[in-house]
Amino acid sequence: MSTTTSAARAQTVLGNDDWWRDAVVYQVYPRSFADGDGDGTGDLSGLRAKLPYLRKLGIDAIWLSPFYTSPLADGGYDVADYRDVDPRFGTLADFDAMIAYAHELDIRVIVDLVPNHCSDQHEWFQAALAAGPGSPERELFHFREGRGDLPPNDWESIFGGPAWTQTPDGQWYLHLFAPEQPDFNWDNPAVRAEFRDILRFWLDRGVDGFRIDVAHGMIKADGLPNVGKAGDERQVMMVGRGELPYFDQDGVHEIYREWRPILDSYPGGRMAVAEAWVPSPQRLARYIGRDELHQAFNFDFMMASWDADSFRTIIDKSLMEADLVGAPTTWVLSNHDKHRHVTRYGDGPVGLLRARTGTLLMLALPGSAYLYNGEELGLNEVLDLPDELREDPSFLRTGESRDGCRVPLPWGGTPADGFAFGPAGAAAPWLPQPASWAALTAEVQEDDPASTLNLYRQALAVRKSNPALGGGAVRWLAAPAGVLAFEREPGIVVVANLSKVPVSLDAFGGKALVTSGPLTETGELPVDTAVWLQR
Ligand code: BGC
Repeated sequence: MSTTTSAARAQTVLGNDDWWRDAVVYQVYPRSFADGDGDGTGDLSGLRAKLPYLRKLGIDAIWLSPFYTSPLADGGYDVADYRDVDPRFGTLADFDAMIAYAHELDIRVIVDLVPNHCSDQHEWFQAALAAGPGSPERELFHFREGRGDLPPNDWESIFGGPAWTQTPDGQWYLHLFAPEQPDFNWDNPAVRAEFRDILRFWLDRGVDGFRIDVAHGMIKADGLPNVGKAGDERQVMMVGRGELPYFDQDGVHEIYREWRPILDSYPGGRMAVAEAWVPSPQRLARYIGRDELHQAFNFDFMMASWDADSFRTIIDKSLMEADLVGAPTTWVLSNHDKHRHVTRYGDGPVGLLRARTGTLLMLALPGSAYLYNGEELGLNEVLDLPDELREDPSFLRTGESRDGCRVPLPWGGTPADGFAFGPAGAAAPWLPQPASWAALTAEVQEDDPASTLNLYRQALAVRKSNPALGGGAVRWLAAPAGVLAFEREPGIVVVANLSKVPVSLDAFGGKALVTSGPLTETGELPVDTAVWLQR
């Protein structure tokens, strides 16, 4: 009648250094979060001004997507200077002020580190272009001669097209992503030394951790061999698949073994979370542990289809894998690379209710949860952006666009309040907000007890006052078809109705702590709704 899946770690009282194990981390996409200077682009002073809002929301940490000097050819994942802030986002002094205030409010700060590639405007790459073939400057990247008119090998870019671009002197350089993102040559000790130094630079400024971008990249197989796939079989995906010569190579672990002692040499539990797309939990486990990284993203939950079996299978699989990997898993429903979950679940009122239900499910699971800015407002994906405003480099090459989840957040009705919603004063946000968001601004939701913002606040407050929820086991309970029901250690029962009819809660008992939508007049749990019950 019930099964128990053990979590990675059943401990309920966490030491300070273990803060990340059950943390709720809020991803800030700096360009779109809050605009402090009214120029239509988000920035660090805007973020600083909104820290009390995040404190009230109840999150433990923020993860800041890249804010470094960048031409923004890939939204900042093309870094031109790893030790400075892009002027559009502010200055190093703004960063220092932001992190100091965050720490004052008990909010930790994780920053994005992009080690696989830089921007073509990075001074090293500019020097490599100028220095020409055979120079030591070119050794910092992967420059090669072509095969006649063809690129050096058959690798394809994740964003579409060949992974090589030819320079005027005839040589080609490797870029697994956009041509504006040349891959570093990690066989070169100077690259390794540079990144050790970059880590220290930000640790010295007080960051609590790093999100490692494309953590399974960096090392390429000796000789850059062909993948050998042609035609319709699109060779490039983010997943290493155990056969691609540019992902999940064994040599990448040497890098993490160099980084870990640096993290450990700072007090307070400095951590690193990997964005590593690898083919199996066994391969993932190799990235995690005492001498490498702390944790890795688990994107399976985000991929679940809206049915109870899909969620249950993925929850069980994720918890089993967390045991195998030896670190608590992460749960994610939305981020800057995927359509927002309101829209994935059907958009409109149905999508919103399901998104709220998915969030309640997620926040009751053991491990850490990563939220994406704006999901607490119930924002949908903006699907109808005019093509000429889209900036995602993959849109230009594949037609797939990640711009719709990057539309600036609607804060309120006045320009002084971050991204204004409405006409007066400040420059228009860098991507236009849909008119329907007038009903979703943080201002409108602030005092509405039924708002999505207040649902997140309520769920996070319950999670905070029941620290055992962040660890422990998931005990599945018998439930009607299409209904997910499980018990968590502090006597909290979670019921999510993904069936087609309302269900009675009588069999579960307890008092409702949080519900993703109203119960029926007779106290039943409506379709697409979830509840946390205290037994
Ligand atoms: C980031 C993307 C980025 C890519 C290249 C990904 O993992 O999440 O937004 O385009 O890395 O840096």
